[in-house]
Amino acid sequence: MEITNDIKYAGVNDHEIDLFEGQYIVENGMAYNSYVILDEKIAVFDTVDANFKEEWLKNVADITSEKAPDYLIVQHMEPDHSANIAVFMETYPSAKIVSSAKAFTMMKQFFGTDFADRQIIVKEGDTLSLGKHELSFIAAPMVHWPEVIVTYDSYDKVLFSADGFGKFGALDVEEDWACEARRYYIGIVGKFGVQVQNLLKKAAGLDISTICPLHGPILKENLGYYLDLYNTWSSYSVETEGVMIAYTSVYGNTKKAVELLAEKLESFGCPKVVVNDLARCDMAEAVEDAFRYGKLVLATTTYNGDVFPFMREFIHDLTERNFQNRTIGLMENGSWAPTAVKTMQKMLEGCKNLTFTDTSVQIMSALNDNSAAQIESLAKELI
Ligand code: FEO
Repeated sequence: MEITNDIKYAGVNDHEIDLFEGQYIVENGMAYNSYVILDEKIAVFDTVDANFKEEWLKNVADITSEKAPDYLIVQHMEPDHSANIAVFMETYPSAKIVSSAKAFTMMKQFFGTDFADRQIIVKEGDTLSLGKHELSFIAAPMVHWPEVIVTYDSYDKVLFSADGFGKFGALDVEEDWACEARRYYIGIVGKFGVQVQNLLKKAAGLDISTICPLHGPILKENLGYYLDLYNTWSSYSVETEGVMIAYTSVYGNTKKAVELLAEKLESFGCPKVVVNDLARCDMAEAVEDAFRYGKLVLATTTYNGDVFPFMREFIHDLTERNFQNRTIGLMENGSWAPTAVKTMQKMLEGCKNLTFTDTSVQIMSALNDNSAAQIESLAKELI
């Protein structure tokens, strides 16, 4: 695949993977992108996952017509991109590695060597000339690890954005960008909104016509759309007006209460109601929805003096990603001493700028007139 006259795609598609990063379901697989710039000097951007060593080395060799690359630019040391650094260095003994000082420390940890006599350490603002192509390096700490650099090629106006603007899904599968880019972003980079905002500010000063991320498609058109979404996600702003209801239900009574709430919200004209059963849905999808919509309702049972395990995990997933700026409604179910509302409030107390509804719903075992009236009142407050 040709990105520009001089920039070629050397990445691979992974349809064998069970869980990306050991936890994310990727029904449409995953792409590990890698790029080659052909100029007076040849630069390769990042390697790929360990399982694709041969395919990737062949891609690189085909693109360079067996000419040895001069540089391996390592933007990120997570093994989905760095696993083949050592084999690349063995294959091309004259190549040098261009990367941040922190990345070389990690190379020593991963490979037992930091390639001391073959390293070029770069930091923010440093440049590397390949001939026509002048590369500038931009520090992007915590997008998604501390050693990350991204690279701008002023000749072709390309931003090599590391994990930024990545998405789940292999490149040979057609699917909506935002859906899987959002789940990827919130799950993997969601905690680091401040750092992503810093990178976006630096990117705003560049004339960019193409974004080449390390996962997902190369972005060439309508870049404002992607940059706007990244701005929304990284500033923890509401992307879509609506209510997301996340619940757990042991015998179906909490589920019935949630269905009644969803029905009431819809009948009152709520623009969008999304319901997730936390025991059965993809948790990463539910977390993504919580960050997408403006309002969140949590409904669960009191369990061992705490909340039901899936709800505990869900709230933890939100708080560790700096969940903020949202309206929250709470519903609890218990047959003798319901305390889930209090427990959930406590779990969320460290989050910035949450507004709790005045109405909380308490169900004693099963819906009755009293709890149904509370649900109606919660629905009215939420819309
Ligand atoms: Fe795609 Fe953070 O590695």
